[in-house]
This record gives sequence, structure tokens and C-alpha cells, in this order.
Amino acid sequence: MIKIDDRDFKEFTGFLKQNFGINMTKKRTLIEGRLNNYLLRNGYSDYSTYLKTLFEDPTGAEVNNVINYLTTNYSFFMREWDHFEFYKSAILPEWKAKITNYDLRVWSAGCSTGEEPYMLAILTDEFFESQRTMWDKKILATDISEKVLAQARRGVYDVSSLEKVSKKWITNYFDRLDKNHYQVKEAIRNEVIYRRFNLMEGAFPFKKKFHVIFCRNVMIYFDMETKQRLVQKYYDVLENGGYLIVGQSESIDRATSRFVYVAPAIYKKPHK
Ligand SMILES: C[S@@+](CC[C@H](N)C(=O)[O-])C[C@H]1O[C@@H](n2cnc3c(N)ncnc32)[C@H](O)[C@@H]1O
Repeated sequence: MIKIDDRDFKEFTGFLKQNFGINMTKKRTLIEGRLNNYLLRNGYSDYSTYLKTLFEDPTGAEVNNVINYLTTNYSFFMREWDHFEFYKSAILPEWKAKITNYDLRVWSAGCSTGEEPYMLAILTDEFFESQRTMWDKKILATDISEKVLAQARRGVYDVSSLEKVSKKWITNYFDRLDKNHYQVKEAIRNEVIYRRFNLMEGAFPFKKKFHVIFCRNVMIYFDMETKQRLVQKYYDVLENGGYLIVGQSESIDRATSRFVYVAPAIYKKPHK
């Protein structure tokens, strides 16, 4: 196993935190474990040489590779169902009644392999029923890792990962590819726009504000200060009355944010 010495570890974790918000200062073993084969395969025998290549790569390709290895992309269908229940029974009816131009804007930030945005697209499709074609209801789904985005775009999942998904959804929204795989139907794949986006970017580039942002199980890897800055940016890009939904084990510090607590992990930007 290639070991990372103290100086390289400090430099590397500082780079990851500053550029991606990812706090790995206590994850030395994880870094060594996840990068070992990659370094060996690419002819590196120490971290100093590798980090030099990483920091000096003008194309950004090396950063992409390392991010693919170091991010934790665990996600699954029906994860923290309460949030989706709230989305379909409270958020969608509320915005349907308020929005006058048929333009619903939902963002899945840190979407990983696509389970979360596809569930949102399915619920939205079911909710609007006969009005579905009247509405522009595409889900924006972003992640820092190209690897997970490629998987998400294909929308192919193992049979076992759909065990908790209802038969009705499987019939209506998935095509069976072979014995072991299903693919999300094209109509739903077309309802999700995948983009690579680093949440650490200075200002968010969006022209229009969102009605709902899901950012679940992403900020757990960020330190308090990074998280607070990001929560403020979410606040700024939400419509008044918009919702921010985080992971069930996460919360937003109400002392430093103007979000109003609605239910566990569900927050609302108040109307002025
Ligand atoms: C554990 S997954 C969460 C997936 C999904 N939201 C869920 O709850 O099941 C966290 C995702 O956040 C992404 N991520 C981490 N840091 C990021 C950053 N700075 N910008 C964008 N995405 C990031 C990771 O690549 C990973 O796919």
C-alpha cells in the first residue's frame, strides 16, 4: 500500500476542501485505500509525484479522476421516502396552485447515480396526470463526479436495486433490458437534465430561481463553514416559499440561516 506522508496529506486534503468542500482531514486510510490501485496502475510509487501531476494538470482531467475515486456516491431508490411523500402531497399541490406560467423548477444537487432525480421525475409525472404535457417540469440533476453522471444518464439499474420500488412504478416507468437489469423509460430520462456542477463554485449561474432543492446526504462531507455558505446560496436561488430538503441525518443551523423548519430535514424559505 502506498502511504501518504503528513505533508502531502495536509496539502491534498487542503486542496480537496478548498475546491470541492470535501473534508477528508480524518480520512487518511480511506484516501490511501481508494487511490492505491489507481496510483499503481498509472505508474506512481509515491504521493508527492502524483500530487504534482494533479495540481499542475491544466486540463482538469486528473482532478476529475481523483474526484471519481474519492466521492462517496451511495444512493438508492426510495431512500428517505418521507421526503418524497412530502414532495408529492404538500410541495407539488402548493406550487401547482401558485405557479401561473406552468414552469416548475426542481434541482437535485448531488444526484449521484440518478435514483433521486428519477424518483422526483416519476412523482412529478404522476402528479400532473393529464396536465403533464402543459408543464415544463424538468428536473435539474447535478453532481461533481462525471462517473456517476454517466451512470445516471443511462438510467440502468440492477433488478435488486428496484426491490423496494412498487410494481406499478416498474411497469409504468421502467423497461426490462435483460434478466438482471431495468432501464428508466426514455420519457422519464428525458425529464431529467444532468450536468456536472461543483457546489463550491463562487456564484451559482442559474437564471431562474428554484421551487424545490433536494441536497440530501451531500453536505455531510462538508465542514460547518462550507455548509453554512452553501445553505445561504441555496436560500438565494430559491423562490420565496421554496423548499430545501437535506438528508435525514442532517439539519440546518437555524441561528445562522433564515430558513424556516417545516419537518425533519425539510426547510422553507419564508414569503417576504
Ligand atoms: C452520498 S451521495 C448522495 C446522493 C443522493 N442525493 C442521495 O441522498 O441518495 C453524495 C453525492 O454528492 C456529490 N458531491 C460531493 N461533493 C460535491 C460538490 N462539491 N459538488 C457537487 N457534488 C458533490 C458526490 O459526488 C456524491 O455523488
